[in-house]
Amino acid sequence: MNSDLKIRLDRTSKMSLTEQIRTSISRAIESGTLAPGTRLPSWLDLSAQLGVSRGTVQAAYDRLSDAQMIETFRAGGTRVAPRPRAATPRHEAPEPGMFMKAYDEMHGGPNIFQLGIPAYEGLPEKLFARARSSNLLKAGGLSSLLHPDPRGEFELRREVAGYLSIARNLHCYPEQVFITAGYSSGLGLALRVLGLDGKQAWVEDPGFLVTRKALELTRLNIVPVPVDAEGIDVEYGMDHAADAALAVVTPGQQAPLGVTLSLRRRLQLLEWATARSAWIIEDDYLGELQLDGRPAPALASLDEGNRVIHIGSFSKTISPALRLGFVVAPEELIDEFSVVAATLAPAPAPVIQLATAHFIRDGHYIRRVRRLRRLYTAQRDALCAQLRMRDAEWINAGLTVLFRLPDGAPDAQIAREARAMGMAPSPLSKWFATPSRALSGLLLGVSTAPVPRLETSCRLLFELVDRFC
Ligand SMILES: Cc1ncc(COP(=O)(O)O)c(C=O)c1O
Repeated sequence: MNSDLKIRLDRTSKMSLTEQIRTSISRAIESGTLAPGTRLPSWLDLSAQLGVSRGTVQAAYDRLSDAQMIETFRAGGTRVAPRPRAATPRHEAPEPGMFMKAYDEMHGGPNIFQLGIPAYEGLPEKLFARARSSNLLKAGGLSSLLHPDPRGEFELRREVAGYLSIARNLHCYPEQVFITAGYSSGLGLALRVLGLDGKQAWVEDPGFLVTRKALELTRLNIVPVPVDAEGIDVEYGMDHAADAALAVVTPGQQAPLGVTLSLRRRLQLLEWATARSAWIIEDDYLGELQLDGRPAPALASLDEGNRVIHIGSFSKTISPALRLGFVVAPEELIDEFSVVAATLAPAPAPVIQLATAHFIRDGHYIRRVRRLRRLYTAQRDALCAQLRMRDAEWINAGLTVLFRLPDGAPDAQIAREARAMGMAPSPLSKWFATPSRALSGLLLGVSTAPVPRLETSCRLLFELVDRFC
């Protein structure tokens, strides 16, 4: 008998003994513990060893044989079947590449100062508890055999359209709204529809790494355009790449510097896009979640030329774990968006969409955004007080506070060491596409910085920074 085969049976489990034996052997084969060709014990031996009947072991072997995981030979006994080479051994996971390392660093946690996630509250659970109690799980498709609408559940599309007209001054029909699994999936949908392979695309510099990588993957040539106190420098873009076919921007609150694109720049950008038949993708990832003053309307609300594709996400206002967002397509692209949604990028599970639609319809969403705004403002003010006491150079940047470090300070190394101490500041230099433009600093997420933890965390962070600067 093979000594690597360890089967532990749980006689109190609801899983049958046959299934427990089958699962243990199949896991050992999949992980490479039992290599192809390895001989398995006979029914008789294994049944004696485990204290079960021969029939129980035989049934488990029959299922493994049906799944082509084992083979039975008259004289050679039962052996593990040949497997594709790549499948063994699976336990040695490959090192992630550079992009995935950066992505994992950005999205790991949760830790204090982490960017891009809401305050730790059990909201999805509450949302789904409500969904269950209102019988949405039945109505929402888990018991339905029909294909759901790939463009999204009409109920949610209608709620989103209604919400956008009030909160973002963006007036659209529900038919223009396509439900997606968050911003990235909305970006993928839009890029498929636009089909701009080989063309140039403006991106903000500094800007969101995921956007840059997505454009590269869809074979666009990125043109990093600097950002100043008015947002993306449209004149720079026109001077350096007037023929670009696309600009991806965060006009509400620039990621990561937090500046709102000025009206002058908005008009310039729209004029350029209309004149050149270029497209603008508006990444409205924070929506109306703005801490100071009233949020500026969506860029798409000014778009007379139908050049703007507006993308929103529930990642910041509800939770990234929901994987839910939406795209608002210009009217003349509704059909193209529908085709790509139906073939390559269908909307997520209806039950999640319907739960969210009810959450918006019943006023919980607006109340939640208001509550988050109040909570984050208090956390932001407390964080700024700590920075003020240190006499640090800092800037309010949307839902983050930028703690500037002297030029050339190793912000990435500081951030790495901070992570080992349970903090997750994001190094500013990593947000730049052009190394010569990179500035040094630590972006401190406000949403994940509860007031009671601030004093100690800031002291540790300042001590860490003092070791390097
Ligand atoms: C600039 C920017 N856009 C969009 C998103 C949201 O992405 P998603 O909806 O895929 O979670 C984020 C989240 O970190 C972001 O920083």
